[in-house]
Amino acid sequence: MQIVIVGSGKMGHAVAALAAARGHTIHAMIGAEDNAGGRALTRQRLEGADVAIEFTQPDAVVANLERLVEARVPVVTGTTGWASALPRITRLVEERGGALLHASNFSVGVHLFLRAAEDLARRFAGHAAFDAFILEEHHAAKRDAPSGTALTLREALRKGDAARSFPITSVRAGAIPGTHVVTYDGPADSVTLSHVARSREGFAAGALAAAEWLPGHPGVHTFEQMLFGATQ
Ligand SMILES: NC(=O)c1ccc[n+]([C@@H]2O[C@H](COP(=O)([O-])OP(=O)(O)OC[C@H]3O[C@@H](n4cnc5c(N)ncnc54)[C@H](OP(=O)(O)O)[C@@H]3O)[C@@H](O)[C@H]2O)c1
Repeated sequence: MQIVIVGSGKMGHAVAALAAARGHTIHAMIGAEDNAGGRALTRQRLEGADVAIEFTQPDAVVANLERLVEARVPVVTGTTGWASALPRITRLVEERGGALLHASNFSVGVHLFLRAAEDLARRFAGHAAFDAFILEEHHAAKRDAPSGTALTLREALRKGDAARSFPITSVRAGAIPGTHVVTYDGPADSVTLSHVARSREGFAAGALAAAEWLPGHPGVHTFEQMLFGATQ
């Protein structure tokens, strides 16, 4: 496939390396320079691209998605911190007959962890002796806090137990790729469920698998729907 990569940071480079190793062609890699407001994403530059993979930052992603959808290039984005714009982008994708797949986390392990967390919350529901909370840790350069995955984790926990609030504590330090921990702490014991990302390769592999799947699937999709089916 001819793949456009938008964002030449840590994830953009990880996806580009994996895509090349899997025999895809990097049609273009578009960094921040010259792309204010998505202006480098012209039809001319995108011509011949099968799909775009977008990993930038919260203040850039929405304009990039608008330009890619307008140009009718299916787009996978892993950028976090733009959930409030999702309804508007969804309308645009539907109006233009485009294709978008978004995920705050492209690790298959995380999506299994989210299901386990929902089950854990269901089992601890009503056990008032335990306090429940989320701790998430990422590298010092990550801009949004809490992480998109921590917010998704809280949603999963609330599906299992609507009576708890599940407060989130965020740590930004060093080079941590991403750690999410749910703790139920009681007077006699403590129970934890954690997901620890060892590197960015798992995220890159998930994003690339999504990019290989997306062309020919119009509409707005999540990685979870791709993995487990629309009704899961
Ligand atoms: N879904 C997942 O599985 C997953 C996994 C890891 C990370 N993420 C998320 O993905 C995003 C990127 O993460 P990262 O670790 O790659 O961050 P990063 O290393 O900071 O890279 C972000 C890149 O985006 C560039 N950028 C900013 N505005 C741009 C624009 N208008 N057009 C093109 N590029 C632009 C930045 O350029 P400058 O440096 O020049 O500003 C930077 O190189 C973050 O939102 C992060 O939370 C998601």
